[in-house]
Amino acid sequence: MTLQVIVGAQWGDEGKGRIVDWFAAQANFSARFNGGDNAGHTVTVGKRIFKLHLIPSGIIHPQIVAILGNGMVINPATLFEEMDILRQAGISVSPERLRISFAAHLITPAHQALDKALEVARGRGNLGTTGRGIGPAYTDKASRRGLRLADMLAVDFCERIGNHVTEANRSLRMLGAAELEPGPVCEQFGEFARRLKPHIADTALELHAALQTGKTVLAEGAQGTLLDIDFGTYPFVTSSSTTAPGALTGLGLGLDAAREARVIGVVKAFQTRVGSGPFPTEVFEALALRLRGSGENPWDEYGTTTGRARRVGWLDGVLLKYAVRINGLRELAVTKLDILSGLENLRLCTAYRHDGKVLTDLPFGPAELEAFEPVYEDLPGWSEDVSALREWGQLPAAARNYLDRIARLAGVPVRLVSVGPEREQVVVHS
Ligand code: IMP
Repeated sequence: MTLQVIVGAQWGDEGKGRIVDWFAAQANFSARFNGGDNAGHTVTVGKRIFKLHLIPSGIIHPQIVAILGNGMVINPATLFEEMDILRQAGISVSPERLRISFAAHLITPAHQALDKALEVARGRGNLGTTGRGIGPAYTDKASRRGLRLADMLAVDFCERIGNHVTEANRSLRMLGAAELEPGPVCEQFGEFARRLKPHIADTALELHAALQTGKTVLAEGAQGTLLDIDFGTYPFVTSSSTTAPGALTGLGLGLDAAREARVIGVVKAFQTRVGSGPFPTEVFEALALRLRGSGENPWDEYGTTTGRARRVGWLDGVLLKYAVRINGLRELAVTKLDILSGLENLRLCTAYRHDGKVLTDLPFGPAELEAFEPVYEDLPGWSEDVSALREWGQLPAAARNYLDRIARLAGVPVRLVSVGPEREQVVVHS
């Protein structure tokens, strides 16, 4: 039995999509375990760029069965859009290939309206959410009044949706936001239910059976460790478990599945974040523009889901070490090394200074990071373009030195390095 878990080791947008795509070539199942269409996973195959928000990136490989796990919150409108895009690209999204857990929760227009209204109500203290209804859908789940995919199979589904909209309207009214008509939502979701029925399954049972019979299951995390509801920079986090243990609860797998799991953390060669919250190694002005890119290229640092410019900074080794511990990472995949080519000097945050002390571990997790001052180590950069390189030994000595330093700070090896957006632009470090 082989479980491989791929998670983001930073604030999301680490380039998980392309790393999942690389591993999915050898896998049987590709399974998302958390979040919803707040995620944006980009995979570039030749001239085609797939931007997937809900469906696991592995689906691009023909042998893969894609699973949307119970830990997810699913907006059917986005799901159908994505299914159409894949179908048009000749990729099958038949019920045999795309399986959705009966226990996943639905995102409705009422959740989206509440997400936006709550952000407005927070004013300057807003979280910078994606506005996709993620928080309100998980709130309903935790309050035990959520709508699950299984509800779509019930004869009174329309009534359940209607009650949900009426309930949400009460909160929208209090927030001074426009209310929704239950009728059109019932009608729309009735049609969604009809189309989704053949995809709804006990995916936990299917994954268990797959692992028992020696199949390879690739669990695909969305967002990143530092956005985890428990272990992230709370309250500037998303509402789900983004870390590797979340793959078990979010897919319905027991601890035995984890025993021999390959747990891979994806780390961008620098650090980025979208939305509000602490970011000790953030940089500004010319250097920020240099790392972010102008927005002309699809790989520049602008949100796949919202188009917002990402905040950028130097790689934070303290937070990376934390991510290794919280996830139980065994190896790293470093992405976007090519972007650093041409920078004369690179910086790595190796510790924090706080209250006159130098710390290499966080005293109370990453929530209150504002007061922490990064301690940097400077390393020489390299001028060579690395995008055509495929072997570790071909990388400039300064690039290898930078990657080795990251591995030493993390305490786990760097196994993969991506040097460009294309599928084959990967260097494997054996
Ligand atoms: P929410 O998940 O839409 O509630 O947003 C909460 C926080 O997580 C905000 O700061 C978002 O910018 C951030 N976030 C959510 N999804 C992603 C993602 O896929 N990549 C990066 N940041 C994300």
